[in-house]
Amino acid sequence: MRTQAFLCVVLFIGGYIAAPLSEEKDDKIVILLSRHILFNKNYLKYKAKHDIVDIMVPLTALTLESMKDIDFDSKPDMTVFLVEADLKDGKRIDKGLYLYKNGEEKMVLPNGRAAAASFNDEKIVYFGASDGLYVYNVDSKSADKYGNFSDSIIDIATNVDGKHIYILSEDHKLYNVTNEGADKELLQDVEDAQEIVLDYFENIYFYDSNKDVFIKNADGIIKVLGLPKGRKSLKFLGQDFRKVRYVILMTDNVLYVTFANGLAFASPVELSPDAKPTAYGLWSKIVHYYAYNKNLYVKYL
Ligand SMILES: *[C@@H]1O[C@H](CO)[C@@H](O)[C@H](O)[C@H]1NC(C)=O
Ligand SMILES: *[C@@H]1O[C@H](CO)[C@@H](O)[C@H](O)[C@H]1NC(C)=O
Repeated sequence: MRTQAFLCVVLFIGGYIAAPLSEEKDDKIVILLSRHILFNKNYLKYKAKHDIVDIMVPLTALTLESMKDIDFDSKPDMTVFLVEADLKDGKRIDKGLYLYKNGEEKMVLPNGRAAAASFNDEKIVYFGASDGLYVYNVDSKSADKYGNFSDSIIDIATNVDGKHIYILSEDHKLYNVTNEGADKELLQDVEDAQEIVLDYFENIYFYDSNKDVFIKNADGIIKVLGLPKGRKSLKFLGQDFRKVRYVILMTDNVLYVTFANGLAFASPVELSPDAKPTAYGLWSKIVHYYAYNKNLYVKYL
């Protein structure tokens, strides 16, 4: 299982490199992804006005529609949601949530901060904003208020069929939205969560301000072991739609495979210090979106 996950990560990110640029480091092989490899002009898709801090590529009918005639030579452009912000001195000034397709952006929610989509063939996409929860209106390409909350939301996640919605509030509390938005239930054992992501089986992965990583499952909370000591930054690579019990976590510059059983392993993939994207969005193993310096890149593997 571990090898398989490693392979996936390597295929998926190592797919950038025809002949892997690898080096030996502390007895292990490291695939170093440099600026030159990642931010190649051939992958540049779009220049935004602000930094792109979140990319959500829904694996829903929204995306599949544009993938009907799957022809990877023509590199189809998919429907993608982008969250933009100005990044200054580690602070983030929100600049809205946009729909991106075919080289064009459309503002969907000026105060939107995060997006999550179901992974089946429904077209359900939710947005978290500074004044509550919204749902994407496919016909008008706009956002409709969902439920009666006015919480300031910093992150959002949903499960396979889009029926369960989890919102992370600005005061770092995690809620389960129930009764179609009428109620919300505080998940009391989740404390100080900074970012959340679900795997296919609805295990909830999060980390706190001490940079400790945890998993909430039906039995309670597990602390993740195996991450490097003294880690300075963490970021989940985004929702993966495959039926796997792990998520990928970027820990400083190394990609860690974090399993639902609470063990994390370093993948052989490392980003060079000047090549850290501001956001990632994955579409299966095939298409990989990422952003750097206000630019959106797309790589077809
Ligand atoms: C969230 O609520 C749904 C019911 O709406 C429930 O099935 C699910 O288990 C809840 N999730 C957690 C983590 O409690
Ligand atoms: C929202 O609040 C209004 C007025 O308080 C109420 O009529 C409505 O049923 C509520 N909607 C939900 C989804 O709770």
